[in-house]
Amino acid sequence: MITLKDVSKNYNVGKQTEVRALRDANLEVADGDFISVTGPSGSGKSTLLHILAGLDAPTSGTYFFKDIDVTKASDKVKCGLRNRQIGIILQDFGLLGDDTALENVCLPLTIGGMRRKQALERGKSVLEQVGIAELAEKRVNQLSGGQRQRVAVARALVQNASLLLADEPTGALDSRNTSSLMDLFEALNASGMTIIIVTHNIAAAQRTPISYSIIDGVLRQERRT
Ligand SMILES: Nc1ncnc2c1ncn2[C@@H]1O[C@H](COP(=O)(O)OP(=O)(O)O)[C@@H](O)[C@H]1O
Ligand SMILES: [Mg+2]
Repeated sequence: MITLKDVSKNYNVGKQTEVRALRDANLEVADGDFISVTGPSGSGKSTLLHILAGLDAPTSGTYFFKDIDVTKASDKVKCGLRNRQIGIILQDFGLLGDDTALENVCLPLTIGGMRRKQALERGKSVLEQVGIAELAEKRVNQLSGGQRQRVAVARALVQNASLLLADEPTGALDSRNTSSLMDLFEALNASGMTIIIVTHNIAAAQRTPISYSIIDGVLRQERRT
């Protein structure tokens, strides 16, 4: 599904403050893989995820998603990727607190032009899939951290993506909610979803069959079981 070849990302290129956030990263992801990337704060995890999502362009190297050369793709093609193939859960979730869980989940669909009735139906079924159907009409800012995280997962899944990317998905969760979110990811993976999470949570990372580490922008495979 994914081939990253010698991908580097430098910020502030040519300035004294230049940062090498990602250094010659190589990554192969097959359909159905469940991968964690662990590293301390500032090691390049979000940079890697943003590149995989097509939100950020590498400084050098190539990135293929299926047969698309993402480094050469137009913004339109990259938007299409995020609309149809890649679901993303960003570090701060990006949910609208005053809107209900269901409204948040349906937003990508209605923006994409789906009729409201159809969007609401699809949204409800995804909320059910992530185990929070009963919270559909609650406003997001009335929900707990664990519940919000599930709304963010539901929104990432609502367009039937084949790849789910999650940035520190357990970052705001206690150990019980962490374990239950990992149960959900496991179930999604068992149903065919390819998943990549970046995290500094070792307990979460230990639950994925494939794990990588990233330190100072250097990505390394640690385990494949
Ligand atoms: N937009 C940016 N401009 C300049 N430096 C950045 C930017 N984004 C990230 N960095 C730097 O790149 C490095 C990796 O950051 P990041 O990928 O956010 O790490 P992590 O997600 O592992 O905490 C850090 O040194 C960070 O300060
Ligand atoms: Mg980060």
